Amino acid sequence: MCKVLSVINNKGGVGKTTTTLIISELLAYLGFRVLVIDLDGQSNASVTLHAYVEEPISGVTGRTAPLQENIFEVFVDRLKTPADISKVVKATNIQGIEIIPSNNRFENIEKNLEDCYRSPFILSRAIKAVCNDYDFIVIDNSPAMNFFTLNSIVASNYIITPVRVEDYSKKGVKQILDKLNQIKDEYDLEQVNFLGVFITQAESRTNAFKERIKDYESEIGDKLFSTCIRRDTKIEQMESKHIPMLELSTESNALVDYCNLLLEMDILPESAQELLMRSVS
Ligand SMILES: Nc1ncnc2c1ncn2[C@@H]1O[C@H](COP(=O)(O)OP(=O)(O)O)[C@@H](O)[C@H]1O
Ligand SMILES: [Mg+2]
Repeated sequence: MCKVLSVINNKGGVGKTTTTLIISELLAYLGFRVLVIDLDGQSNASVTLHAYVEEPISGVTGRTAPLQENIFEVFVDRLKTPADISKVVKATNIQGIEIIPSNNRFENIEKNLEDCYRSPFILSRAIKAVCNDYDFIVIDNSPAMNFFTLNSIVASNYIITPVRVEDYSKKGVKQILDKLNQIKDEYDLEQVNFLGVFITQAESRTNAFKERIKDYESEIGDKLFSTCIRRDTKIEQMESKHIPMLELSTESNALVDYCNLLLEMDILPESAQELLMRSVS
């Protein structure tokens, strides 16, 4: 059965898109059929996966037909049949990964929700229509706790939150957890499992870093992953050159860390968990 994973944090630059890309790539490497949903008007995941189509201003304002139908249609036209959703699913440069991309048209409705019917269930209904076609759906979110992020949470089985230690006090980390629990209660989302917070772009040798980890542990306990993602220049290369990570280099500290994170998340069937474990060691 298809599992939906959302990568969520209301701050930018913490590693949401990187996490979405690398976890999706690892899942595809393990043989799973993956759908990425780009729910961020900045469209970085769509760009890196070679699925971005810039819309001219006439397309953004609706004077001409759009060059690309994408996540915009999912929300504005409330797509929910398999035939409709298949029209907005695009190929990527990575075998095993497809995407519902975003572009500047989506960015436009993200800012003013005028055209958008505001139900938190739009995305989950759309996903239901295609969930037999995929093993995993990974959703990249914008740096906001907005209406779209709420749709992502509602549609999820699992949520993970990347943080940079520079950005968060222990109270800040606890607030993320409280907010997600509050949404889960409010919408009665029994299927949503908040797996936890993990640290990205880590420079773990410093004392300040170690102190911060202790702080987080005292505040959120086992909701802090023990895996940290190290800072690694190969990540920037992957994103700037738009090359899949496994093609660019398998000699990457961050890639090893992401494998360990995926193992720690414990969401894979046993055979895939073992295969990934063998790949890391
Ligand atoms: N582990 C890492 N090591 C080095 N740079 C990273 C790492 N993770 C992310 N980055 C870089 O940090 C920037 C922000 O990451 P990104 O995933 O785009 O964050 P977000 O989606 O939360 O805004 C990007 O330039 C990305 O290449
Ligand atoms: Mg991003």
